[in-house]
Amino acid sequence: MFKMTEKLIKRFTVSDIFLKKNTSKIVSLSCYSSQISKIVDKYADIILVGDSLGMTLYGHKNTLSVTKEILIEHGKAVVNSTKKALIVIDLPFGSYEKSKEQAFETSSEIISKTGACAIKLEGGVEFSSTIKFLVERGIPIMGHIGLMPQRIKINGKYTVLGKSSIQKKKIIQDAKIISSAGVFSIVIEAVKESLGKLITKSVPVPTIGIGAGKYCDGQILVSDDMLGLFDNFNPKFVKKYADLYNEIDKAVKKYQKEVLNEQFPSKKNVYN
Ligand code: KIV
Repeated sequence: MFKMTEKLIKRFTVSDIFLKKNTSKIVSLSCYSSQISKIVDKYADIILVGDSLGMTLYGHKNTLSVTKEILIEHGKAVVNSTKKALIVIDLPFGSYEKSKEQAFETSSEIISKTGACAIKLEGGVEFSSTIKFLVERGIPIMGHIGLMPQRIKINGKYTVLGKSSIQKKKIIQDAKIISSAGVFSIVIEAVKESLGKLITKSVPVPTIGIGAGKYCDGQILVSDDMLGLFDNFNPKFVKKYADLYNEIDKAVKKYQKEVLNEQFPSKKNVYN
C-alpha cells in the first residue's frame, strides 16, 4: 500500500512544459534506452525518443528507414525506466504524410502501446491541418521546423537554414502556423541564433533549440552526441560533455588483454 510519507513523483505534462515559457529554460535530450533514460530522467524535463536512433544506434546513413515498430520498442523501454520527464516519440518518415487519418492511426498506436505522452512530427505550414486534427483528437504534438532531417532527399545535406530572406520568412511562418494549429512546443533545428530568437519572441509556445542559439526557451541534444558515443558526424552545435566512445574502447581493450594473459577471470570471479 502507498505510504503517506512516500514522495509522489509526478510526470511533467504538456501544460507544465507550456507554462515554462518565460519562466525557466527547458532541458531536453533525445535518448532511447532504459539505462540512459533512467539517468536523464533525473535532470531533463523532456525525453525525446527520436528517429535519430536510426543513425546513432542502428548505424543507418539517415533517419528515413526508422519504423514505427522500432520507435515503439524503444519508447516502451524509456517510458518504463522513467518517472518524471515528459516522454515524446517521433513519427517516423512515411508514417503520417499521406493523410490526417494515417497520422492519427500511427500517433494513437504509438501512444497506446508505449504510454508516452506526446508525439513529434517534422513539418511546417504543410502539416498545420494534420496537427490541428491530431490535437483536437487528444494527441499532444511537438512541432519540428528549420532543418528537418526527414527531408534529406530534397535538401541533399544537413545544413544551417534561414540564411536567405525567403527561407527565413518561411520558417517564421511555419512556427506561427503550427503554433496556431495547437502544438505545445516547437523544436527548431539548425538556424542562425538571430532567427531562433525572433521565432521565440513571435510564438506563444516554448521553442526548443538544437543548433538554434541560446535565446530559445529550451535546448535539446542527442544523448549519444553529448556523451561522445556517436562521432560519425559532428555538427558545431553539439557540445561533448563526456567521451564515452574512448572510455568504452579503453575498457574493452583492457578486457581483451586480461583474457589473453589469463588475468581474467580472477579468484573473485569464479565459483568454488
Ligand atoms: O530525432 C531526434 O533525436 C530529433 C532531435 C535531434 C530533435 O529530432
